[in-house]
Amino acid sequence: MASRLLSIDEIIQATGLEESVLRFYESEYPKKLPKKILRGDLLLFPSHSVQAFQKLHTEVTSGRTVIEQEPQTFGRVIAITSGKGGVGKSNITLNLAIELQRLGKLCLVLDADMGLANIHLLAGVSPTYDLRDLLSGKACMSDLIMPGPEGIGIIAGGSGILAMADSKYEERRDIIRSLAEVEEEADIILVDTGAGLGSGVRDFLTTADEVLFVLTPDITSLTDAYGLLKVMHQEDMPSRPLYSVVNMVHTLKQAAEVAVRFSSCAENFLGLDVKNIGYILRDSAVGAAIAHRSPYTVYKPMARASCNTRNIAKDLVKNEHPELATTSAFNRFRKMIKTQKTIEMRMKTA
Ligand SMILES: Nc1ncnc2c1ncn2[C@@H]1O[C@H](COP(=O)(O)OP(=O)(O)OP(=O)(O)O)[C@@H](O)[C@H]1O
Ligand SMILES: [Mg+2]
Repeated sequence: MASRLLSIDEIIQATGLEESVLRFYESEYPKKLPKKILRGDLLLFPSHSVQAFQKLHTEVTSGRTVIEQEPQTFGRVIAITSGKGGVGKSNITLNLAIELQRLGKLCLVLDADMGLANIHLLAGVSPTYDLRDLLSGKACMSDLIMPGPEGIGIIAGGSGILAMADSKYEERRDIIRSLAEVEEEADIILVDTGAGLGSGVRDFLTTADEVLFVLTPDITSLTDAYGLLKVMHQEDMPSRPLYSVVNMVHTLKQAAEVAVRFSSCAENFLGLDVKNIGYILRDSAVGAAIAHRSPYTVYKPMARASCNTRNIAKDLVKNEHPELATTSAFNRFRKMIKTQKTIEMRMKTA
């Protein structure tokens, strides 16, 4: 089922409940209902709110107490990365988010590419604010989330992320706190980290719940991705699910060869398990969609690249890790920068 954001009127229609009843449930049992999402000026309901309201109504009217609270869960933060640039990360991040949203997952894309932040261009939206405005106090986090195709949210980080890397501890802490709030609202947050291991981006990579490497049949894409993985490993990266996707392949055989080479290097030399979750064929629909300022899964939903991306989205949904949902990746990030600050202070006073 495609996930949509619903207005209060649509919720009234779908549940058959009066607005006053819905409002009462919202104020009395907020933990029992999905969080509303801000899109533009409107607070909208995720589509699974309909079932949540109906379930709650049945519980309340049948006299069952509704005190037990569900444990807080956080969205999956998946960093999309590569060793080498130009392998298709930004396109994959955006289109994967669209396909995940179509599978019923509320998705947010955080554009953390310092070099060329272009997710908004690929999505055909113009950001009013980015993270720099959050730093300067001109905007709050909800102002930053732009509505994108299929209802995904897009946060234009861009050079704001660079500003963040250079910013004061207190400022970084505020940004991360805001991101942690967003994490409670989305099912999945895809972070386009840019290529390589620049400062700032590196923090996202080490704190994400899961990391997805984009490879291509180009040999340097493989060696550079392995180099990146090695550095992450040497930097005491906590163990977490690692995935690969092979992009711009001509055949399935070629995709399998690249994926196996990467996984076996990771396993044999670093003892890491990298799971391949799919491939995307080289497809002229990708370039054509970019020229139309439209994501390829929207411009040509039945193109080969779109079908391949859909399969990757399905695989990601199959590979859910409920244990990761109980802690916040961005809060871990916050703790990490706090530790860094303590170390910096100790070094200064030593
Ligand atoms: N499956 C594909 N078939 C054909 N062309 C593709 C495919 N995937 C990506 N491309 C092309 O590759 C180019 C780079 O894509 P993209 O900008 O998504 O890469 P990137 O890894 O984000 O780059 P950067 O490292 O510069 O941020 C684009 O011009 C796009 O058209
Ligand atoms: Mg990019």
